[in-house]
Amino acid sequence: MADFLDELKRRFVRPARPMEDKDVGLVIERLGIMPGHRVFEAGVGSGFLTASLARVVYPDGEVVGVDVAEDRVRAVESNLEALGPVADVVELVVGDAAEVVRRYEPEVLVLDMPGAERVVEEAPGSVKRVAVYCPFVDSAVRAVEALEGRGFEVEWLELVERSWSYEVERGVRPRRFSSHTGFLVFGYG
Ligand SMILES: C[S@@+](CC[C@H](N)C(=O)[O-])C[C@H]1O[C@@H](n2cnc3c(N)ncnc32)[C@H](O)[C@@H]1O
Repeated sequence: MADFLDELKRRFVRPARPMEDKDVGLVIERLGIMPGHRVFEAGVGSGFLTASLARVVYPDGEVVGVDVAEDRVRAVESNLEALGPVADVVELVVGDAAEVVRRYEPEVLVLDMPGAERVVEEAPGSVKRVAVYCPFVDSAVRAVEALEGRGFEVEWLELVERSWSYEVERGVRPRRFSSHTGFLVFGYG
């Protein structure tokens, strides 16, 4: 039987804080990412989001994953080896995403990095949908302004996850209520 992606990710090293599953799932759905799409992702950090994007665009699409930190790119390269042939759709690049984004013609931009608004400003006209993950309110405001400046329709939200437990004779109650992780700002062209 094939491995499951969540099991493979548990073996990944984490040089940067990974995006949580709740946010990864909504990014993929809101952007409507399908097999065959070309996605530009920055920064790749630990490669958690990269792995999910690769699985969805496989086998004919492409994920260009950029990070300014070379050691993170190397860690992601090694993490993705666990994915076997799915990793072949990923091209990893070391550099400032705002400087390299124009080299590509992606349909989709997914950004989880400081200064993401600079990448939105520099993005080529091929980009139709954008997701920006922002830990802070001020970075979310900058993402909204940059997306509106490029003519995108904007949605800004925060996803909150609450786990519940059921114990016989003790009843049902929330087990974990995640504190703030980040905002998601979407742009639809
Ligand atoms: C929070 S991590 C991304 C985590 C990733 N989404 C994951 O799921 O593993 C943010 C990354 O952005 C990278 N970064 C910062 N500035 C950048 C830039 N100008 N261009 C590309 N990457 C950048 C950092 O090196 C860091 O690895």
